[in-house]
Parts: sequence; structure tokens; C-alpha cells
Amino acid sequence: MQNNRTMKFTSAFEQEVFEGLTSYPKHLSSKYFYDEIGDKLFQDIMAMPEYYLTDIEYAILEQNKAKIAALFSENNREFSLFELGAGDGKKTKILLRHLVEAQIPFDYRPIDISQNALDQLEESIKLEIPKVEVNPLQGTYFETLRDIHKVNGKKKVILFLGSNIGNLLHEQAVEFLGNLKDSLNDGDLVLMGFDQKKNPQTVLDAYNDATGITAAFNKNILARINRELGGNFNLDQFLHWEVYDPETGTAKSFLVAKEAQEVTIESLGLQIRLNRWETIHTEISQKYDDAVVEWLAERSGLKIVEEFTDDQQLYKNYIFKK
Ligand code: AVJ
Repeated sequence: MQNNRTMKFTSAFEQEVFEGLTSYPKHLSSKYFYDEIGDKLFQDIMAMPEYYLTDIEYAILEQNKAKIAALFSENNREFSLFELGAGDGKKTKILLRHLVEAQIPFDYRPIDISQNALDQLEESIKLEIPKVEVNPLQGTYFETLRDIHKVNGKKKVILFLGSNIGNLLHEQAVEFLGNLKDSLNDGDLVLMGFDQKKNPQTVLDAYNDATGITAAFNKNILARINRELGGNFNLDQFLHWEVYDPETGTAKSFLVAKEAQEVTIESLGLQIRLNRWETIHTEISQKYDDAVVEWLAERSGLKIVEEFTDDQQLYKNYIFKK
């Protein structure tokens, strides 16, 4: 029953879990952190004092919203505002409110892997900023780029906030940004957040909080396998471990088996063995500097139009064009 290569998977989740847990070293993709429970845990993370990213990006957008809106709405041309990985939209609402107040014509098209997050977002915008026309779209970044491409005629502005790009290795980021560029016409813009290299301790603390919220967030992928694929992971048998390499700027998350154990995943017909201290790699959260962002932009055919940062340069938002 193990390693059945002719097996048909009924979802990308099943297939990726199978592949990740039968590889060496083992890995699972952080994009599967986000179900209803994971969305809530991520909101708790964003509210933690250690997780500086959200507050700083919020402040950058608040400080620069007029300038950003002016760039988006050049010549007062109507546009569609796409957002990849919209989440709870807390930061985006700064821009939405400002655009509504300035009577700039646009519609908002949030995209997220979590239908739950999209439903909540649409609901809250209807209540808080009812004048915004919301058209949500569920899917992964790569899938939905195709849909973005199909929207002809209207100017496009694409938001990719929260340093979500940091979940991608540089090679994947170049591929992703290249696809993004291909979906742009002249005049279209991309606003993107890049968390910056900084004191390594600050980064470690952000991904290794004392209260254990980040650990629960990572372990939620095991809980999801239990709930959705009939797995029997014992979450207490794993510890969450974070490393940060200040040379490459890569923060990496692992789940480490505290004891040797066997785990069964029923819907995959899979039984796996973990040795004591064996790892499951779950997430990368890449940190950037100017040289790396310039290199990524150049390799993917994007041009930097503008950049915004905080006074300590902990975080940067860039606007790109084709
Ligand atoms: C939502 C991908 C930007 O990597 O900083 C937070 C997710 N993981 N704490 C990040 C996350 C652990 C977050 N991103």
C-alpha cells in the first residue's frame, strides 16, 4: 500500500502530503496552514508583539496612502485592485477607505487559498466600507494569475502584501514574478511587501514566540492531515523549531519528532515512520535587502517605480511595473 505510484489523488493537498511525507528529508507546504483554525491562528500571530511585520506594513501604508492611491489611479482611470493572499484585509482596508473617500473608481478582487478567509473579508468590507465592490476569487497564487490575465481592458493593480513572497525560494519567486509580469499590461502596477534583513534575534523572536502560537500554527498542518485525511499524528510528539540564517536571510520552520513513531494516513493508504529527532520542514520566510529585491525584479522583468519604508528600514513596500 505504501508508495503506490498509480494512486489517484483527489486533491492537491492529498498529493503534496503524500509526496512530502514520503520524501527525505520530509516536508509539508505552509500553504496548507490556512484553514478556519489556521486563519485564526495567523490572526493571533499578527496581533503578537513579536510579529513586527503587520504593524510596520500597516504604518507604511497609512503614512503613504495618498501617494499610493495617486499612483494607482493615474489619470483617474478606473482599475481593478487584485490582492493575492488577501487574508483578513486589515492593511488593505487603509487603501480601500482612502480610494473610496477620494472617489477613485475601482473594484476590489481579493484572492485567497482560504474560502473561509474570503467569506469573512467580504462580509467585513460590506459592513465597514459598503461602497467597495468586492469580487472574491478562491485559489492558489499560480492558479489565479491565469484568471488575472483574462481580465482585459481595465487597468490592473495587484497587491501582494505581508511579505507573502517570502514563502517562496528565490527560484520560485522569479518564476512567480515572471508570471505576474506576463499578466500585466503597460500602466498596470504591483504593490508588494518585502520583510527586510535585520537583527537576527528580532526575526527569530517573530517566528518563535514564547506563548506557542507559532508552534500551534505550524502543527495545524498535522491537525489538518488528521481531520481531513484520516491521519493519526500526535501533536504532542512534535516540537516547533525555527532557524534563521543571517547570511541568506532565510528563516526556516521545522516540526521535529520527539520520539520515534509511526503515523497512518488513511485516505492516502499511507503509513510512515519517523525516527527520533527526524524533521518535517514546513515553511520558509525569506528576508530581503535592496540588492536581492533589485535582482529578483531584474530577473523577472519588473521595474521598480517607487519604494516606501519605515524609519528603521525593517520592512519595505515596492511598487513595480512591467
Ligand atoms: C503570511 C507567509 C508572510 O512567513 O511571516 C507567520 C506566515 N509563519 N508566522 C510569514 C507566518 C509563521 C507569514 N506569511
